[in-house]
Amino acid sequence: MEFLKVNDQYASQIALIELHRPKELNALNPQLMQELRDVLADLDGNTNVRVIILTGNEKAFAAGADIKQMADKSAIDMLLIDQFNTWDQIRKTKKPLIAAVSGFALGGGCELAMACHIRIAVASARLGQPEVNLGIIPGYGGTQRLTQLVGRGKALELMLTGENISASEAQSIGLVNHVVETQDELMALAKKMMQKIISKGPVAIAHVIRSVNAGFGFEEKGYDMESSCFAACSVTEDFKEGTAAFLEKRKPDFKGR
Ligand code: CAA
Repeated sequence: MEFLKVNDQYASQIALIELHRPKELNALNPQLMQELRDVLADLDGNTNVRVIILTGNEKAFAAGADIKQMADKSAIDMLLIDQFNTWDQIRKTKKPLIAAVSGFALGGGCELAMACHIRIAVASARLGQPEVNLGIIPGYGGTQRLTQLVGRGKALELMLTGENISASEAQSIGLVNHVVETQDELMALAKKMMQKIISKGPVAIAHVIRSVNAGFGFEEKGYDMESSCFAACSVTEDFKEGTAAFLEKRKPDFKGR
């Protein structure tokens, strides 16, 4: 694996997955997502592993989809990269999955954290959905998951302004459950929560996740709409301008077409 580090799952009931593309702030490219899919499938089938922690590094949980790789994609490519299934697989992972967030969790990075079952963060973390700055929308489930977590009003504010927020604000709106001061405290808390879950009946734990997920079955149409809109944005001049501006480190000049 090139972009993930995973601890020895056979030595521990807690699997630790670390996103590892540090130079690109853990930007999510298709290979990283494929690796994540493969690891999660393995862990789901590994009877020794009871819980999973997903984390990044001090600078970034993940700064979103890889803008460089997205910039020249067509609408069809957009629908196919990191397809809906990847994100649904994360959500449906039978083992409790906690996102331990430090640094930036933006765009697809925030969506990745939201696809996990529980989120905790370091106080210095920044979270948000800045996709509109690029002329696109949150296309990895963000329009649906953020709305479920924080409510329609706050979700719309975050997605329409594209502003990112502090961990404490994220906690106050329900986007993260707990905030700690340091990286060490973050991992200690993740492990403490997971130890508590390990002490419970595994069958019951899996069924809690299944039942809660089932309660959100109505969302599928929302995800379909999000995919279509995401693809529609990808053929606009604005999206070409937004991604070019990011890569050229300048402000975008959107024309509305
Ligand atoms: N994709 C690709 N590369 C990225 C990236 C991304 N999402 N985010 C950061 N990088 C790269 C930068 O291009 C830069 O590379 P170079 O050194 O080669 O120039 C490197 O990572 C370090 O980034 P910065 O120099 O920008 O670091 P900073 O500390 O000044 O700023 C930041 C950090 C605020 C996170 C800024 O990098 C940023 O705004 N990143 C983009 C965030 C974003 O827009 N995310 C949404 C992506 S779209 C998406 O996710 C679509 C979706 O929902 C489906």
